[in-house]
Amino acid sequence: MRVKARRVAVIGAGPAGAIATDALVKEQAFDTVRVFERKSVAGGTWVYSPELSPSIPSLCALLEQKADQPVTIPTDFPCDTNKTESINSYQIRYSDTGIHENLHSNLPPQTMSFTQEPIPNIISERALAQYGPNAPFRHREVIREWVEEIFNHAGHQDLVEFNTTVEHAEKRGDEWVLTLRKLIPEKKRNHWWQEVFDAVVVATGHFSLPYVPDIPGLVEYDQRFPGTVRHSKHFRSTNEFKGMKVVLVGGSVSAFDALHEIRTVSKRPVIASLREPLPAFGWGAFTHPHVVIKPPIARFHADSGQIDFSDGTSIDHADVVLFATGYDFSFPFLDKSKVEIRNRRIRGLYHHVFSISDPTLSFIGMVAGGLTFRVFEWQAVAVARVLAGRATLPPQEDMERWEAERIAKRGDGVGFFSIAQDLEDSFEELGMLAGEPAAGTTGRVLPKYEQSWIEAFQEIVTLRNRWWAQERLKSEACSNPLVEGKL
Ligand SMILES: Cc1cc2nc3c(=O)[nH]c(=O)nc-3n(C[C@H](O)[C@H](O)[C@H](O)COP(=O)(O)OP(=O)(O)OC[C@H]3O[C@@H](n4cnc5c(N)ncnc54)[C@H](O)[C@@H]3O)c2cc1C
Ligand SMILES: NC(=O)c1ccc[n+]([C@@H]2O[C@H](COP(=O)([O-])OP(=O)(O)OC[C@H]3O[C@@H](n4cnc5c(N)ncnc54)[C@H](OP(=O)(O)O)[C@@H]3O)[C@@H](O)[C@H]2O)c1
Repeated sequence: MRVKARRVAVIGAGPAGAIATDALVKEQAFDTVRVFERKSVAGGTWVYSPELSPSIPSLCALLEQKADQPVTIPTDFPCDTNKTESINSYQIRYSDTGIHENLHSNLPPQTMSFTQEPIPNIISERALAQYGPNAPFRHREVIREWVEEIFNHAGHQDLVEFNTTVEHAEKRGDEWVLTLRKLIPEKKRNHWWQEVFDAVVVATGHFSLPYVPDIPGLVEYDQRFPGTVRHSKHFRSTNEFKGMKVVLVGGSVSAFDALHEIRTVSKRPVIASLREPLPAFGWGAFTHPHVVIKPPIARFHADSGQIDFSDGTSIDHADVVLFATGYDFSFPFLDKSKVEIRNRRIRGLYHHVFSISDPTLSFIGMVAGGLTFRVFEWQAVAVARVLAGRATLPPQEDMERWEAERIAKRGDGVGFFSIAQDLEDSFEELGMLAGEPAAGTTGRVLPKYEQSWIEAFQEIVTLRNRWWAQERLKSEACSNPLVEGKL
């Protein structure tokens, strides 16, 4: 299947949007590359906004998958409209980020960086104290500035229209019509207009819309005890948990990241409710004298405040139930005919990137399972080459077969878009699709997949487990003076 575009829109200026923009510009095949970003700065998820007080606007809407809906757009363009809650509320639009004050990256910098854009070797005091001078973790602001620098260094910053939300992207004939809304803060007004493109690259991330499991009694509990039910997206600062009795739900990175912040100030023990920890990290994070492990929650009782677990045990009312249960995909600006989300995955994408029914629509960053930033680069270069008409996608039925075979192998749910078990194939197949840059162009060159990336990841697992073990020993020693000599 062959595509040829001259005008390309990129939606989002996070890590995926940054590398997509660079790959498109360096391909030297497009008349127009425009980037639309709803925030005022680049960095995506890595933009920290403590001033935006966090909350879930409607738990019911979230559970019923009715949150983050499309907004009503005007009929004539350009035009200005008044600010309204439904259009401009960061809470209703889920446009704030899930970053807390102490957040650091959790992967080795060489696997998070792009080939020509290393992440700076700046080590925070906290990382130094925990992991020493070779600490591989970088403070959130180092990562945000690194994303910004990818735009600035290459001179792409002028391609970005900040404070601009893509409210609708519609295919009319061979063209994409984007309906755009820019907030003019000093006028307290929304300015609306439309622009036309041949192709759209969606780099809007999948870490905005919290996923909360629909557990019996949860909605009633939330109504009876407002502020108790929270999501890890809304964890901004450890102070919020001072002296509180906390139930932390989830076994993945958000759960263990929050756990070791919260347990230092909360009431002891923290109750960690999970099925299994993330297999790569094991139980190390959850094994601590100030943590009690419980299975998933079976029921909330709004009348008494009691919380039941699936093993038949219960606890009395908690001050906070923090769901570190991940996120859902959400593309309110795309028609359902263009993107379908079912079983918490996107349907109809070849290699998680190209819309099989219309490859002028592509997605960067819609994977999970390690080496995430790196693979964005491979995706971005493949998209740039395909849109330039320099790389060819297989026939539609072959792309459909790829999806069917992957469902058979990985299931038809969240496992579908995790590339953890086929990292090398994911990189190599995208690399083969992209091919080499056209002669005489500045198109990005994709190197070979490196086994050392996995080794670097294994070192992270070892480092983290060592730190958790040290913390465990420290706490045991504090609660039992006889073992103090161990430290
Ligand atoms: C708390 C947390 C920590 C993480 N830590 C790591 C880590 O250490 N290492 C790692 O590899 N991954 C990490 N991730 C996962 C994730 O891969 C990265 O955070 C990364 O930022 C994703 O990049 P992205 O560009 O795809 O999406 P984002 O960074 O989410 O960027 C998307 C951008 O699109 C914009 N946008 C969305 N909708 C619109 C619209 N309609 N119009 C205009 N703009 C729009 C958003 O404002 C945002 O700026 C973390 C995720 C979370 C939630
Ligand atoms: N840099 C950092 O330190 C940092 C911090 C936070 C997040 N992140 C990143 O952010 C992304 C999202 O991570 P995440 O941890 O928020 O989401 P996630 O990886 O999708 O994990 C969600 C977790 O919730 C669990 N869960 C779902 N329903 C549950 C239920 N009913 N009861 C108990 N547990 C339930 C899942 O368990 P099952 O698997 O059993 O369903 C899983 O352990 C990842 O890329 C992660 O690396 C990074």
